[in-house]
Amino acid sequence: MSGFESPSIALIGAGAMGGALVRGWIEAVRKGGGLTLTVVEPNFDPELERALEKVGAVLNPHQAGAVDILVLAVKPQSFAAVAPEALRFVGPETRVLSIMAGVTIDALSRELGAARVIRAMPNVPARIGRGVTAYVAAPACTAEDRALVEQLLEPLGSVEPLPAERLMDAVTAVSGSGPAYVFLLAECLAAAAEQEGIDRDTAQRLASATVAGAGALMLETGETAGALRKQVTSPGGTTEAALDVLSGMEGLGPLLRRAVAAATQRSRELGK
Ligand SMILES: NC(=O)c1ccc[n+]([C@@H]2O[C@H](COP(=O)([O-])OP(=O)(O)OC[C@H]3O[C@@H](n4cnc5c(N)ncnc54)[C@H](OP(=O)(O)O)[C@@H]3O)[C@@H](O)[C@H]2O)c1
Repeated sequence: MSGFESPSIALIGAGAMGGALVRGWIEAVRKGGGLTLTVVEPNFDPELERALEKVGAVLNPHQAGAVDILVLAVKPQSFAAVAPEALRFVGPETRVLSIMAGVTIDALSRELGAARVIRAMPNVPARIGRGVTAYVAAPACTAEDRALVEQLLEPLGSVEPLPAERLMDAVTAVSGSGPAYVFLLAECLAAAAEQEGIDRDTAQRLASATVAGAGALMLETGETAGALRKQVTSPGGTTEAALDVLSGMEGLGPLLRRAVAAATQRSRELGK
């Protein structure tokens, strides 16, 4: 957080996602990042609570004033209940960063009376700092606001700016829901292994380690999925035999296109 003059941050909701964010910010404070933290959470994880107290964070304050940045990480259905609490932290200059799925920039602006609003969509590997978070900023946000938000989201993993809010539905369908598709791939691979005579536990370990290892290889080498796939596919070999099936007319490509389209459509409906 070194590029900014001691921003004051209030976080509402330190659950799975909010907790991952604030753990990263605690590290930044320890390294002399100069930020001040206020956290509102009815049910603190005791270890997180102790770590916050150690860095002088203010927890569940009775009185609150405007902060530089307010972060909302409660469930979307809690937003209406949390709004009065959140308002105590909002002044004319406050940026609002929300990771609540489906809550629009308009709704956030209207409920909180803030113009500098940023809406972000993380995904579940964020819990271990390996997620990807896409965000979109309201027109009132400055380049500095966007840079600050990118820094604040870093504890969750990589960060991708989006040019338009309407793309949030597609992002929800691709990276938001995407980890579940990969888990399903591992489940199906394990089931196929069992069909070939491998026992259930070994099949699950083989499939999980294969999915995890392939993902890690892609991340660490920085090579594209396509390039890595070609590297392991020798002409006439076993991988090619499988890929011929997976690339067919009824194969993985058309199936995933339909799956992503269905999830995008569902996200649009839920946002209405
Ligand atoms: N998990 C994901 O993969 C994912 C992906 C994309 C987006 N998101 C978004 O991230 C947000 C947080 O999700 P999560 O998985 O971190 O949920 P979570 O673990 O349930 O965290 C929400 C936290 O907010 C707390 N809270 C509830 N009411 C509150 C209040 N009035 N004031 C202050 N804190 C309050 C909850 O406390 P209690 O436990 O006592 O209720 C909980 O600790 C959601 O809006 C979700 O849409 C999550």
